[in-house]
Formats: sequence, C-alpha cells, structure tokens
Amino acid sequence: MTADRHPDPAFWAGKRVVVTGGAGFLGSGLCHALGALGARVTAIDALLPGMGGRRANLEGSGAELVVADLREADLAPVLAGADIVFNMAAQISHAGSMADPFSDLAINATAQLRLIAALREAAPGAVVVHASTRQFYGRAQRLPVDEAHPVVPPDFNGVSKFAGEQYWMVEHRVHGRPVVSLRLTNCYGPRLRIADARQMFLGIWIRRVLEGEPFELWGGEQMRDLAYLDDVVSAFLLAAETPGCAGRVFNLGGDAPLALRRLAEMLVAANGGQGRFVVREFPPERRAIDIGSYAADDTAFRAATGWAPRVPLPEGLARTLAFFRPRLTPFLQDAA
Ligand SMILES: NC(=O)c1ccc[n+]([C@@H]2O[C@H](COP(=O)([O-])OP(=O)(O)OC[C@H]3O[C@@H](n4cnc5c(N)ncnc54)[C@H](O)[C@@H]3O)[C@@H](O)[C@H]2O)c1
Repeated sequence: MTADRHPDPAFWAGKRVVVTGGAGFLGSGLCHALGALGARVTAIDALLPGMGGRRANLEGSGAELVVADLREADLAPVLAGADIVFNMAAQISHAGSMADPFSDLAINATAQLRLIAALREAAPGAVVVHASTRQFYGRAQRLPVDEAHPVVPPDFNGVSKFAGEQYWMVEHRVHGRPVVSLRLTNCYGPRLRIADARQMFLGIWIRRVLEGEPFELWGGEQMRDLAYLDDVVSAFLLAAETPGCAGRVFNLGGDAPLALRRLAEMLVAANGGQGRFVVREFPPERRAIDIGSYAADDTAFRAATGWAPRVPLPEGLARTLAFFRPRLTPFLQDAA
C-alpha cells in the first residue's frame, strides 16, 4: 500500500454514510470531512450531557442530525440504505464508568447489539468502522503496544468498550459484515470537550490556558502519543475505503510519544508562551485507574492502508488553540 495515502473523493461522492455519535468530537470531524468529499451524511446523536456532543459541532458540515438514543430509538429507518457506518457513539468517561457502570454498559455494549440487529435489517451490506480504544489494554506490559498485547481493562469503561468491539467482530465472523475496529490513542483537536476533563485531560488544559489560569499536571513522566483530529478522520476514511481491513482490529497512534510534562510545556509554547501549570500527585481514585505510559504500535494499520499521521504535535496544538480562542464561551456550556 502507498505510504501517506489520502482519502479518495471518487470513492465518497454520493455515498450514503451514517455517523453514530456524529455530533461529538470525532464524529463531527468525520461529518465535516465527509461533507467536503461529497458524501450524503446522517449523524445520529442523543446529545447526552457530560459528553462531547453539541448541535453546533455540525454547523457547516451539511450533515443531517437525527437526535436519537441508540439504547431505545427505532434505528432501522435511520440506517436504511447506508453504504458505510462510522460507529462513534459511546460513553467515554473512565471515571464516569466507575460511578455509573450500568449506563456505561448500556451504551457501550447493549446498545451495540441493538445497532447490529437494526443494521442487519436496514443495511445488510454496509461497511462498519467502529471506534474502539487502547484503554482496555490496561497498564502496558511492553511499549509500543501492538494488537497482540493482553487485554486487562483497568476500569469498567475498558470492559464495556471491549465487549462492544467484540460484538462487532462476531458480526463479521458469523454474518460476514465488513467490520473494522480502530483502537484509538488519545485524540485532540477542534471540538474536543474542553469544559472539563471528562473526554481527556488536554481538554481542561486548553480551557485553563485560554482563560489565563494555571492547569494541573498529574504526575508528568507518563508517555502518550497524541493523534490530531484530521489524522484520526483520515484513518477512519481509509479504513472504510480499504476492503482488506474487513474483519480486523487495528491500533491507531499519533505523533511520536512524549512525556506529559513535555506536552504541557508544548501547549504553553503553542499559546505564545502564555500559560503555566502546577505539578500535582494523582488523586488516589484516578491513580487507581490510570494506565501509565502508552504508545501504539500501529504498523499493521499503516501497512494495510498507507495511512500516516501528518500533523505534528506543535502544529496540532496551535491549530486547536486557534480554533477555541474565539469560541471559548460556547464550548463551556453542555450539550445543546
Ligand atoms: N477522543 C479520544 O481521545 C478517544 C480515544 C479512544 C477512543 N475513542 C472513541 O471514539 C469514539 C468517539 O469519541 P469522542 O471523543 O468523539 O467522544 P464524544 O463524547 O465527543 O462523542 C460521543 C458522542 O456519542 C453520543 N452518544 C453517547 N451515547 C449515545 C447514545 N446512547 N445514543 C446516541 N448517541 C450517543 C454523545 O452524545 C456524543 O456526542 C468513542 O467510541 C470513544 O470511545 C475516543
């Protein structure tokens, strides 16, 4: 496969695409890209409070938003005739899964079975690209982490996300649906939830920097490989375009891994040197579910698709800050 491949506009023109969780951070990024490629896009989103979904995230994308909850809605009519489904809806908070494991399970696992059944009826041939997570590997036993790494979920969210992914893979093996699952690392970029740290720690860091307040760095030596929104979106598009991806699970990383202390310094530098952080010990309840250092081995996905990340961290951080700077206030309000 050619290295550094781009999504093919000829593939997407006129395609009927459904994006679950389409008003969220990654889902809306996909909707914007798909609109620009000429696809006909429907976003399904329940706009649940405490998550990344916002109606305004879809403004200018051309996507139609259907406000519906995967746990209870009649999904078949929305899915009818879909060529491709990007399955991005999820309960994403790790601490939230420990506080309310039943909602986490209902969204990340049980609702996936509803979606699978509805899709069998409404769009038997649709390709599914499922948003999975590196979270369920738990504390890395070796770095970088490849797909053969043991699964040892550190929290309930890891259990429910693994179950959800595996339901989809069974659907491929038993019913032959083309399904590919991408196990994402930490992603960041425009439309990330920045009101708090529920989506990821970088959200609250961005908020504090733009408010001129110090942000907290817990620990600081742990390594992460952050992926910029546009690179994640390209990965999803290429996964759907590549028939050889069907039936496979892939890790998806980002830029080279770095210590969070270095990331904090880079964020301040990307804000023109304005901003500061204080280093704190992890709160005990967060320490208990933290995965420590992580770096993805995503050579399998690169080999299968020709994907490579293009946006280096300093540039991605600068672009993200530039996006939020004039929009801080609306992004501090919850889903609407
Ligand atoms: N952002 C990351 O760093 C990251 C990392 C690993 C995995 N992922 C995965 O990527 C996917 C997208 O994450 P995101 O960061 O864009 O989160 P997000 O919160 O911005 O988007 C998820 C969306 O799903 C919607 N949703 C949740 N439950 C729903 C339901 N029952 N019915 C309909 N809609 C529902 C929410 O309203 C929200 O808009 C998720 O599956 C997540 O687990 C994200």
